[in-house]
Amino acid sequence: MSRVLALKSSILGDYSQSTKLVEEFIKNVDQDKLTVRDLAANPLPMLDFSVATALRATEDLSQDQQSIVDLSNTLIEEIKAADTLVIAAPMYNFTIPTQLKNWIDLIARAGVTFTYTENGVKGLIEGKKAIVVTTRGGIHKDAATDSMTPYLRTVLGFVGITDVEFVYAEALNMGEDAAAKGISEAQSQLAELV
Ligand SMILES: Cc1cc2nc3c(=O)[nH]c(=O)nc-3n(C[C@H](O)[C@H](O)[C@H](O)COP(=O)(O)O)c2cc1C
Repeated sequence: MSRVLALKSSILGDYSQSTKLVEEFIKNVDQDKLTVRDLAANPLPMLDFSVATALRATEDLSQDQQSIVDLSNTLIEEIKAADTLVIAAPMYNFTIPTQLKNWIDLIARAGVTFTYTENGVKGLIEGKKAIVVTTRGGIHKDAATDSMTPYLRTVLGFVGITDVEFVYAEALNMGEDAAAKGISEAQSQLAELV
């Protein structure tokens, strides 16, 4: 398999379904071709005035601002070093985990991962495939309640990652049989993508 960056984002630790699915998917990837980042175990700073200004500053950075820029650069390098991104995206309160949003806020950088041209925005990260593993207690695929998948497609496309595949594990809180079916469908979808 190609070089993989795996992002875990569940807050549920060992109980997480998305983490299990991602781990199953990456178990055959060579260790030297794999980077795993657990965004819940090792949370990134939340976008606030200080982080936003650090990411936009061009000179005279304070030490704190420089460390934010260094972290953002590391996250972007991790994407660039990978061919495939596997992103766990559980649904919490109809959207992605805050921890995953924090990652997005640190990698969406004007002049670094996207730029505006006369023809509109241009993503600067090219040639990547993203597989998003989304786990839900209910069923939302293709419904108005699933605003997180269009959002992820938009924001990944914004930085140039336009080849995005969604793997759904749904109905996980709708009884044992429904949950088993939801997991097994996601596993089959992932097996096809290996
Ligand atoms: C705080 C919280 C909020 C949740 N919100 C939703 C929701 O809005 N819609 C839904 O279908 N399931 C919801 N669930 C159920 C999760 O999507 C489900 O437990 C899923 O397995 C989470 O992925 P994970 O196990 O990888 O954390 C929520 C669960 C938690 C803990």
